Amino acid sequence: MALPLNIYFKADTADKQAVKVLPVKEGFSVSELPDFSDEARALITLAAKNARFTGKEGSLLEVVLPEKGNVRQYVLVGFGNDKAYDKAGAAVVARFLTSGLESLAIDLAAVKKKETAKAAASFAYGAVLRGYKLDNYRTTLSDDKKPSLKSLYFAEVDQKEAEKAWQPFSALAEGILFTRMLVTEPGNILYPESFVEHCKPLAEIGLSVEILDEAALREAGMGALLGVAQGSARSPRLLALRWNGTGKPDSRPVAFVGKGVTFDSGGISLKPGAGMEGMKWDMGGAGAVVGVMKALALRKAKADIIGVCGLVENMPDANAQRPGDVVKTMSGQTVEVINTDAEGRLVLCDVLTWVQKNYKPEVIIDLATLTGAMIISLGHEYGGLFSNCEKLADNLVKAGRSSGDALWRLPMGDAYDKLLDSHIADMKNVGPRYGGSITAAQFLKRFIDKDVRWAHLDIAGMVWADKADTFWDKGATGYGVRLLNQLVSDNFEK
Ligand code: BES
Ligand code: MN
Ligand code: ZN
Repeated sequence: MALPLNIYFKADTADKQAVKVLPVKEGFSVSELPDFSDEARALITLAAKNARFTGKEGSLLEVVLPEKGNVRQYVLVGFGNDKAYDKAGAAVVARFLTSGLESLAIDLAAVKKKETAKAAASFAYGAVLRGYKLDNYRTTLSDDKKPSLKSLYFAEVDQKEAEKAWQPFSALAEGILFTRMLVTEPGNILYPESFVEHCKPLAEIGLSVEILDEAALREAGMGALLGVAQGSARSPRLLALRWNGTGKPDSRPVAFVGKGVTFDSGGISLKPGAGMEGMKWDMGGAGAVVGVMKALALRKAKADIIGVCGLVENMPDANAQRPGDVVKTMSGQTVEVINTDAEGRLVLCDVLTWVQKNYKPEVIIDLATLTGAMIISLGHEYGGLFSNCEKLADNLVKAGRSSGDALWRLPMGDAYDKLLDSHIADMKNVGPRYGGSITAAQFLKRFIDKDVRWAHLDIAGMVWADKADTFWDKGATGYGVRLLNQLVSDNFEK
């Protein structure tokens, strides 16, 4: 998948662009800008004053200035006090994506010389994230609503240095946009088999791709995952992507595990109709896992990571599992299925067992749009974090803070665990109504081996946005990719 904008670290030789962009810091002074005439500087000062423009991150000021007997439009964009070049890039693209302009030239005169390469790369990163739009199902969109912006040119920068700085940013952007594409695709297009088809080409960038079909899942004994899948006409899959960039063939990987319910109707415990269309993004955990694997491979991370996705559709046909059914998990433990809508944990438990048995990971992080209760707790500001390891939890919170994909830790404990005891089987798949996100986490913990450091991220409130924000338009956010990429680079790379 190509990025939505072409990024050039050189001048636009055609110089067609009518608009020049000047990133500035909070409290900038006009003397930092390129050599403008005194008259131009006075115009900028006046316009800034009239608009209360001071260079706050992501704020814009548009001015038209005389230039060599002609005029040119300039856009000052703030990167604030914290060098938020990415937010500046995103703000510019939000403004000009469908403006009719095809290119913008970004002049880094007001950025410190030794920082221009990084600033350009970070600006471009924010720009491409904000520039993503999936319009492939629109056939009647008028031309003036279609994205026009195609290219960004950064001239005042060392081309070699900037390209080097851009490499990891572009890898990350590609991963995030891949995730967003998968999350956006509707359930009739994206189902377990087609999800896997989208991921097969990742072999070309060096990932090893392993796929288990239905027969192989049965062979492995994944009774819980198969119980969810049995009410759907779509066949389930397990997808495993490995990136070993350590150079050691026998290292124990870090495992990322994703819930990939390509559509969650609730099954026989059918969900209410209103809003059910949103359950196409119930594969957001799996989407994040494959997105980060793509990013890690593209930037050739020096880490050993395996990403595993449990892919199923949860539907209520005549063959569907019933409330009250007892299923046998791959671990050997049995589960009484009280509510067929608590399907994510039934999928994840078998995938967790499979990855521990086959890859002996030291660390496991699972990502899942697991509970509506998570959205009740944290809204759309933080993903929920549950862990059996203080250090891992701390590192995740830190990575969340620095990457922008924020996390908030919630408690676990035996009193919650007890709530899952069943009269007929080893456990029930749901607890009582209260603390629903915690009992879901406790359920998963029953499938984690003793010596394994594990964290569960309930990202139900994060994968889809009902309105545009700094780095995304309304729709899929790509949550989790930045987070895990950051976690790997902070903790698991040599
Ligand atoms: N995929 C849903 C969780 C969800 C709900 C995510 C709404 C985003 C928005 C999950 O499979 C589910 O249905 N969970 C149930 C669990 C309950 C039956 C214990 C829920 O949250 O209602
Ligand atoms: Mn459900
Ligand atoms: Zn679900």
